[in-house]
Amino acid sequence: MTSTLSSAPAGHADAELPAPRGPLSQSVIRALASEPGSGSTALADLAGSAVTDADPYGDDLHLALYVCYELHYRSFTGVDDAWEWNPDLLRLRGAMEALFLDHLRARVPTGGSVNDEMDALATEHVDGSGPSYHLRDHGTAEQMREYLAHRSLYHLKEADPHAWAIPRLQGQAKAAYVAVEFDEFGGGRGSRMHQVLFRDLLDAAGLDSSYLGYLDHVGAPTLAPVNLMSFFGLHRRWRGAAAGHLAATEITSSPGSSRLVTALRRLGFAEQCVAFYAEHVEADAVHEQVMRHDVVGDLVANDPALEADVVFGMRALGYVEDVLAAHLMEAWAEARPSITL
Ligand SMILES: [Fe+2]
Ligand SMILES: [Fe+2]
Repeated sequence: MTSTLSSAPAGHADAELPAPRGPLSQSVIRALASEPGSGSTALADLAGSAVTDADPYGDDLHLALYVCYELHYRSFTGVDDAWEWNPDLLRLRGAMEALFLDHLRARVPTGGSVNDEMDALATEHVDGSGPSYHLRDHGTAEQMREYLAHRSLYHLKEADPHAWAIPRLQGQAKAAYVAVEFDEFGGGRGSRMHQVLFRDLLDAAGLDSSYLGYLDHVGAPTLAPVNLMSFFGLHRRWRGAAAGHLAATEITSSPGSSRLVTALRRLGFAEQCVAFYAEHVEADAVHEQVMRHDVVGDLVANDPALEADVVFGMRALGYVEDVLAAHLMEAWAEARPSITL
C-alpha cells in the first residue's frame, strides 16, 4: 500500500542505508527499504518489547535512532520521503528516545546555575587528558585520521541539528542564535559552510568525504553525540537544552580546536585540514560570548523555568563527549585502532 503522501522522488539522497547491528536497527532499515506502511505493524510491535530490552547506549539502538533522525536531514537513497512522518516509525523512535533520555537523566547531575556551569566550561584544563590533548602531544597520524572519521558523523552536518531550534526561540536570544548559525553556515558563502570546510578537510586527509561515509564504521559512542543534538533540536520541549548544547559546544570549541591545529601541524597534515580547526579557534571565541550573554543570558532572563534544561543540555553534551573520549583513549592506550578505516 502506498500512502497518498509518498509521491516525492528520493533521488536527492546520496547515502545508502547502513548495515543493521541488531533487532531494532534491522527492523528500521528493513522497513525503510520497503514502501511506507508495509512494515509498520512490525515496527509498532517493537516499540514495546524490543526497545525495553535494548541497551540504551548500545550500537543497535543508536544506529536505529540515527537512521530515524536522518530522515529529517538528507535521508537515504531509495527511501520514500513519506517515512519521515510515519506514525509507527515515530512511535518506535519515541520509545528509543525515552530509553536514551532515561539513561542520560540517571547519569547527568542536576542543580546549579547556568552561569556557574558556563564559567566551569570556560576554564581550560591545562593538564587535560582527552583525545585533543593526546593528539596534540603524542598521537599518531593514523589516530588523527581515526578522530576525523569519527567526527565526520557530526561535522558533515554541522549546525544542522541546532537549526531545528530556531523557530522555538524568541527575541534577542533568537537573533543572536541565528547570528552564530549564520557563521556556521558560511555567512552566505556555500564554500565557507563549516560542513563544507570539513568535507574539504577529509579530502585533504585522504579520507572518505561522502556524507555518512563512515556510518557503517562507527558505534554508539560516536552516534550518541549526534543523536543527542537531533533529539534536542527536534523536540520543542527541549529548546532550552538545544540552546545549552550549542552554548557548551561554542564555549569549549576554541581551546579544543587550538589543540587540534597544533596536532595537525605537528603531524604534517595539509593546511586545508588545519583550516577547519583554525576557523573554529577564531570564530568560536566570538561565538562563546554571543552564546553566553545574548542567547543563554536572554533566554533564561525571559524564561527562568528553562534554566535547568539549559544546564541539562550542557551536561548531557559533556557526558556523551566523555563516553566518546573514553572509547578513543581506551583503544589508543591498548595500541589498537578505535575504528576500521
Ligand atoms: Fe563550526
Ligand atoms: Fe561556532
